[in-house]
Amino acid sequence: MPLTEETRAAAADIIAQYPAGHSRSALLPLLHLVQAEDGCVTAEGVEFCASALGITHAEVSAVATFYTMYKRRPVGDWLVSVCTNLSCALLGGEEVYARLSRELGVGHDQTTADGTITLEHAECLAACDYAPVLTVNYEFFDQVDPQSASEIVEALRRGERPAPTRGAPLCTFAEASRQLAGLPDPRPEAAAGPGVGDPSIAGLLVTDTADATVAGPAGGAPANGAPARSTPAKAAPAKAAPAKAAPAKAAPAKAAPAKATPAKAARTDDSTKGS
Ligand code: FES
Repeated sequence: MPLTEETRAAAADIIAQYPAGHSRSALLPLLHLVQAEDGCVTAEGVEFCASALGITHAEVSAVATFYTMYKRRPVGDWLVSVCTNLSCALLGGEEVYARLSRELGVGHDQTTADGTITLEHAECLAACDYAPVLTVNYEFFDQVDPQSASEIVEALRRGERPAPTRGAPLCTFAEASRQLAGLPDPRPEAAAGPGVGDPSIAGLLVTDTADATVAGPAGGAPANGAPARSTPAKAAPAKAAPAKAAPAKAAPAKAAPAKATPAKAARTDDSTKGS
């Protein structure tokens, strides 16, 4: 189905934000935009992006099939993503997924018959400190369990919009996709949701207490950059002390050439035979 004039006009506005000659950089937001209209990246959406950006269908498809946020089948109003990666799995993420899958009667990347809910396994959602988590249209519900997750989804099926633990109030997949395309969220309440939670603050305090730093490239400034955290870097040699023991462990590696010697001998023998 052809894209609407509204979508085409929005696409033109997005492309205009990029410097001349770099319009192809607008591909990611454009894919979200076409997804907002069709619920997934359709063949027509690929055609539209290629035409609008002056690139090939193959280039568009390569991107659209690489990133999991671009869907190849229509998503329902509510995309429920259950993290089943390590931290969440250890704390019950698999059980949450199994409960929702059983109650909804769908598996990964499938949508309920009424078109409301799409369920998916998700890789780490970058909220391990709130594990296990699920998101609905990319808004977080923290520290869920099978029962609370079931109640969230039941509320969605009743037409309600349960409040996420953090961030903006829920909006539909189409609305969220338009925001991901870079279009503004018109809701005044969108910026009023709860921000960072206690687990993140606790983690920050732990790293500060432990003088944790992230080494910069080639021994440069810490990658996390805050000048106040550069001081602990002076303690790094002490922590690096075990590295001095490395040569001892590396000793066997020096023995490797000795093992290689017979091979050289074999080649010599072979070459001799061959001559
Ligand atoms: S493993 Fe689930 S948020 Fe990181």
